[in-house]
Amino acid sequence: MHTIGVLDSGIGGLTTCSYIFRLFPHVNILYYADNKNAPYGLKSEDEVSAAVTEGVGYLLDRGCEIVVLACNTATAVAVKVLRAQFDVPFVGTEPAQKPAGLAGGRTLYLATPLTLKNKKPNVEIADTSHLAEIIERTMGKPPEAILDGFDLQHFDNVVLGCTHYVFLRGTIKKKYPQLRLFDGGEGVARVVGARLKTVPTTRGGRLTFKFSGKREFCKYIRAFARTRDLI
Ligand code: DGL
Repeated sequence: MHTIGVLDSGIGGLTTCSYIFRLFPHVNILYYADNKNAPYGLKSEDEVSAAVTEGVGYLLDRGCEIVVLACNTATAVAVKVLRAQFDVPFVGTEPAQKPAGLAGGRTLYLATPLTLKNKKPNVEIADTSHLAEIIERTMGKPPEAILDGFDLQHFDNVVLGCTHYVFLRGTIKKKYPQLRLFDGGEGVARVVGARLKTVPTTRGGRLTFKFSGKREFCKYIRAFARTRDLI
């Protein structure tokens, strides 16, 4: 059975896995959580690039037929180089700015400092320096106060331009039900489907983990379960 490799600095990419399983429930995913190097968003490009290349090497050594960078930061920094270097399809994650723009109204764009460094959007941005870290530390259940300071009541759309921020969906919706939220996860899942040689229709559906740092299987399984209600 072919395996899809999925990489993120931590739990963020579990939201992408959820999108993938929703469309293709019988694929197998090997998930590389680079928790030793998290958060990526506050590191230098060279540091993130080296960390991502190491993770990709692990996934390719285990025979993954596709690698999904379930991380906007890793994609912004490393996807071009990886595509030139390795002969497997890489699916990157981009902040969903276009659909948010099409929805009309005022948009707030949330992404990590490193994603923003590479890709300055022509919409309003906010300081997100420690957002991913808090979401990782609370395993996707951040306190409601995490939204303080974003003035979300003044916006119509929010681009969740980091896979960790998809865990904010529930918290945001509860406090600001009128807000439209956009993330790149569903688009990624569709591209994965287009890149698969064959889409398995029976068996499979396994999610296995590799941690670059501390092994956190139980916490990650619980965070993954939580994604089902978010997307
Ligand atoms: N989840 C990642 C992203 O989509 C990175 C979070 C981090 O490690 O800073 O950008």
